[in-house]
Amino acid sequence: MSEEKSNEIVEQKVTIGKKRNSTAQRRWRILAKALIGSQEPISIDTGGDEVSVRRFTSFNLLRVGRVENGTTEPEFATWYEYSTILENKLFTVQIRRLNKNFTASELIGFNNTGNICVWPSEECLAYYLLKNQQLCRNRRVLELGGGMSCLAGVIAAKYCQPRGVALTDGNVTSVNNVRCIVVRNGMADFVECGVVQWAKAARAIRRSLVFPRSHPHNTLRVKNWSNYEGGGEDGDSGNGKELGKLAGKLYDVILCADCLFFDEARSDLVETIYSWLSNDGIALVMAPRRGSTFQKFAEAAVKRGFFARQIDRYDGKIWSRHLELLEHSQEYCPDLHYPILLELSKEKKTPPG
Ligand SMILES: C[S@@+](CC[C@H](N)C(=O)[O-])C[C@H]1O[C@@H](n2cnc3c(N)ncnc32)[C@H](O)[C@@H]1O
Repeated sequence: MSEEKSNEIVEQKVTIGKKRNSTAQRRWRILAKALIGSQEPISIDTGGDEVSVRRFTSFNLLRVGRVENGTTEPEFATWYEYSTILENKLFTVQIRRLNKNFTASELIGFNNTGNICVWPSEECLAYYLLKNQQLCRNRRVLELGGGMSCLAGVIAAKYCQPRGVALTDGNVTSVNNVRCIVVRNGMADFVECGVVQWAKAARAIRRSLVFPRSHPHNTLRVKNWSNYEGGGEDGDSGNGKELGKLAGKLYDVILCADCLFFDEARSDLVETIYSWLSNDGIALVMAPRRGSTFQKFAEAAVKRGFFARQIDRYDGKIWSRHLELLEHSQEYCPDLHYPILLELSKEKKTPPG
């Protein structure tokens, strides 16, 4: 994980009982010390007044209201309704959020960043899809690294009339939560969920390129998914078998929010997107610049063969929120918080207008 992101997480999530220090380096040292030295649960409270020194969590594009938990819900899960009105039409989905306390080792073990909150990139991507519903209409949609909510994919499933939707993350806790969301929103008959870890997906892809077999959808891209193992790393009991269904397909739209800061996973993520995207498909990748991580990902994607288009100003409302925050919020740091849109395609697309 890049240092920028780690700093951000510790700022937002970890009760360390110390005053904020001015330099990123010092904060990273505190994080490292806290994470490596402690097995105690880390207090996670995005809204509270504990030591949460970074308060920017949302562009408030969607109204978020708590709704009744079912009687069988565990206490670490809470249901929220995410809603907005666009052109006099109400859009709403119900999202289950986890509010678990993670131990230090859980935070630095297989990634739990998607179980902490719905990150602003996911929120912006969801909103962008609502405003551009035609992007997913009659298309096969896949979300990678969707975290505990897969909010963008859920919105696409409910409102964009896709041909099919697959929602994934590398973390089995996230995926199990997404399964609850899919059922509660009545989408279980056309939305699949599965654990997809990019390293494993990429390994299977590379293996299949060495030992090709014909593929029904696209003879250029060769798949042999019998080797795909799915999740299951670092104590997660990912179910690789079910994933075979997701992995053998090509997708027309791939969604990915705030997943570019994992330095060690960059090339695997690029490879997974490249291999699972149909020839005329598009990947909509949103993430803050966060140091050089966005740039490095974009460069790796181009090197792999993608056409890439970076769009800073993809939505009028999100852009004006960004300008307001720049002027009025001390916590808002565009480098860490403003999601940029990266469109990736295998064929050159002409920008509209
Ligand atoms: C910052 S979170 C973003 C989650 C969600 N997209 C959001 O914005 O709310 C990054 C996500 O990437 C997932 N992830 C990290 N490394 C991964 C990997 N190697 N394979 C698959 N998923 C991974 C994590 O489990 C996590 O859910």
